[in-house]
Amino acid sequence: MKSVIYSRTGDPSVLRLVDRDVVEPGPGEVRVRILVSGVNPTDWKSRRGSGDGAAPPFPEVTPNQDGSGLVDALGEGVVDLAVGDRVWVYLAAHQRPTGTAQEYTNVPAGRVVKLPPGTSFDIGASLGVPAMTAHRALTVSEDGPERLYPGALAGKVVLVAGGAGAVGHAAIQLARWAGATVVTTISSPAKAALAAAAGAHHVINYRDEDVATAIRKPAPDGVDLVVEVAIAANAQLNIDVVKPRSSVAIYANDGGREFTLDVRQNMIKNLRYQFVLLYTVGDTALQAAVDDITLALVDDALPVGENAGLPLHRFPLANTADAHQAVQDGAVGKVLIDVPAVD
Ligand SMILES: NC(=O)c1ccc[n+]([C@@H]2O[C@H](COP(=O)([O-])OP(=O)(O)OC[C@H]3O[C@@H](n4cnc5c(N)ncnc54)[C@H](OP(=O)(O)O)[C@@H]3O)[C@@H](O)[C@H]2O)c1
Repeated sequence: MKSVIYSRTGDPSVLRLVDRDVVEPGPGEVRVRILVSGVNPTDWKSRRGSGDGAAPPFPEVTPNQDGSGLVDALGEGVVDLAVGDRVWVYLAAHQRPTGTAQEYTNVPAGRVVKLPPGTSFDIGASLGVPAMTAHRALTVSEDGPERLYPGALAGKVVLVAGGAGAVGHAAIQLARWAGATVVTTISSPAKAALAAAAGAHHVINYRDEDVATAIRKPAPDGVDLVVEVAIAANAQLNIDVVKPRSSVAIYANDGGREFTLDVRQNMIKNLRYQFVLLYTVGDTALQAAVDDITLALVDDALPVGENAGLPLHRFPLANTADAHQAVQDGAVGKVLIDVPAVD
C-alpha cells in the first residue's frame, strides 16, 4: 500500500511517500481502508516536533488523526463493526504510529465510528479533532448541558471566537443544532460569510467593530458560554460580556501562550475557565462526543463545503506535504487528502 511517513521531525519535506505492507489488525483493532484523510493543526505540530529535528516517538510515523473510509478487517474481539461499514476515525495517531495518511490503517475499535447513511466521507474526515473538541467545549459549563441534542442549549447564548476556523465552524454548527443563540467573531467579510453560512446568528468583525457592544445587542444579559481559540487576545472581552456562572472553554493558544486574570473581575462573575485538550479529555467525554455527533449527523447538522461555511481544499496522498503546509499557513476551511490513487 501507499503510505506517507516521517522518521524525523521537521518541516513538511520530512514527509515521504513509501510502499508498505498492509498489516493485520491486532486484538481490539480495526483495519480501515482510508478514503479521505483530514488534516488539523495538531498533525503538523506533531510532525514539526520541537523544531530541532528530534526523533518522533516511533521509528516511523504516519501522520493525521482524522479520516474516513471502509472497514477492511476486524481484529479479534471486535463485534460491533463489520467489514464494509462506512466509518470515520478519530485519534488514529494518538500514541500510535498509524495515522490516516495511508491506504490502510489499524485503529483501536473504540476510535472507529459508523457514518450514518447519507453522510459523506468528506464530512467523516472533517469530524474528529474539530467536532469532538467543539463538543467538549460546549458541554463543560456549570449551568449548561453535559450532552448535546436539539434543545440542550435552548435559551443559552454561545460566543464562538473565530467562527471561520475548523473548530469554530463545528462549534457554531453543534451549538445551533442544540438550540443556542450563536454569536461569533471573525476578522474579514469573507470569514463573516462563512460563519453565517455555518449557522451563526450574529457575526462580528473583531477588527473593525466594538466587539463588546456588538455582543451586548443580541445578548443584553450576557453570554453563557465562550468557545475560545485565542484567550490571550480575548480574556478581557470575555469577562466583559459573560453572565455570572458562565464558562470560558479554552482549546488553543493562538495569539499568545499566557494570559493574566484579574481576580476580582472573575470572582464577581463566578467565572469558570475550562481548558480543553482532546488527547486528555478521557473516555467518557470522547464517547459522549461520538454519540452526540452521530445524532447531529443523522439530522444533517454538520455539513461541510463552502456553502456550509467550511471550504474544502483537496490534495492527493502524494502531496501530503503540501496539505500540511496549507494547514500550517492558515488555510481557511478544511484540508482533505484523497488517499486512493487516481489513475
Ligand atoms: N485543544 C484541543 O484539543 C484542540 C483541538 C483542535 C484544535 N486545537 C487548536 O486550536 C487552534 C485552531 O484550530 P483550527 O483547526 O480551528 O484552526 P483554523 O481553522 O486555522 O482556525 C483558527 C481560527 O482562529 C481565529 N482566530 C485567531 N485569533 C483570533 C482572535 N483573536 N479572535 C477570534 N478568532 C481568532 C482565526 O481567524 P482570524 O485570525 O482571521 O481571526 C481562525 O479562523 C489551533 O491552534 C489548534 O492546534 C486544539
